[in-house]
Amino acid sequence: MNSALNNLPENKIINGKEISAIVKSEIKTEVDKIINSGRRKPGLAFILVGEDPASKVYVKSKGKACEDIGFYSVTERLPESVTEESLINLISNFNTDDKIDGILVQLPLPKHINEQRVIESINYKKDVDGFHPENTGRLVSGIKSFIPCTPFGIIELLQRYKIQTNGKNVTVLGRSNIVGKPIANLLIQKEFNATVTICHSKTSNLKHFTLNSDIIIAAIGSPDFLKADMIKDGAVLIDVGINRVEDSESEKGYKITGDIDFKNCFEKCSLITPVPGGVGPMTIAMLMKNTLDSYKKIIYP
Ligand SMILES: NC(=O)c1ccc[n+]([C@@H]2O[C@H](COP(=O)([O-])OP(=O)(O)OC[C@H]3O[C@@H](n4cnc5c(N)ncnc54)[C@H](OP(=O)(O)O)[C@@H]3O)[C@@H](O)[C@H]2O)c1
Repeated sequence: MNSALNNLPENKIINGKEISAIVKSEIKTEVDKIINSGRRKPGLAFILVGEDPASKVYVKSKGKACEDIGFYSVTERLPESVTEESLINLISNFNTDDKIDGILVQLPLPKHINEQRVIESINYKKDVDGFHPENTGRLVSGIKSFIPCTPFGIIELLQRYKIQTNGKNVTVLGRSNIVGKPIANLLIQKEFNATVTICHSKTSNLKHFTLNSDIIIAAIGSPDFLKADMIKDGAVLIDVGINRVEDSESEKGYKITGDIDFKNCFEKCSLITPVPGGVGPMTIAMLMKNTLDSYKKIIYP
């Protein structure tokens, strides 16, 4: 638990750190069985372009998760100056590599590379990030697909905490392709039956929507944006935001905070994900789940 949670009642906290550890240990148990039976390990390929510090940290933690679980993994580091063609050639090699079940190109890519073209060059059957249009289209249509890892992690948290979505009003703050749109599209499927509103930077009177919501999912990248006067009593709050804000008391000079003003909303809400320790750890756990599902050919038999 992080320091923001000290002295707060634990029963209001949705503990993503704990749930992600459970998900990973369930995956590890399956992988151990696979390895003990003499079959090859599930394999994940990472492609990291350039020197972006945050991207390096993400790829390192994902690689570490592979190691802990027992996956085979390989990381290709390409210089910032790499051409789109060379990057796509590398992806093509992984597309046909039998040891590889999942391909992850760490985003963002340098400006001279067309990100969409790169995503579309990944074999959609190995698209464990769930960003390929084949998977996006299937998700919207309610057909089995790879689900982007962060929205998948949110669904896992809702299910493990038995949070009802049926007939509930949900507001999603943010309309990105990696979080806002997919989570909204998932929650309107018949499996979840929520009534979903999506808000973005051009939404007028956003508070009108959040005040009427049983569940609010904040994914905008604006520190402490959602305040107690914007939520109703008993709302469930899911905070996706990861914001670095100055903090003179911290050794590093900064702290990580979410899009929801945790302290301000804590009393009024019924459940809340902390930052860090909420949605964040679930993203990696669900990447591992997608890779195992790819290995097992669950999505595309
Ligand atoms: N926990 C995780 O694993 C994880 C994974 C992914 C992202 N994140 C974090 O989640 C946050 C969102 O990421 P993202 O990639 O989805 O962001 P993004 O692509 O930058 O999109 C942000 C969205 O928020 C909307 N927005 C921005 N300011 C707003 C405001 N004041 N009111 C209403 N809407 C507003 C934007 O509206 P417009 O479309 O109108 O511009 C946009 O749709 C970031 O902090 C990111 O670091 C965390």
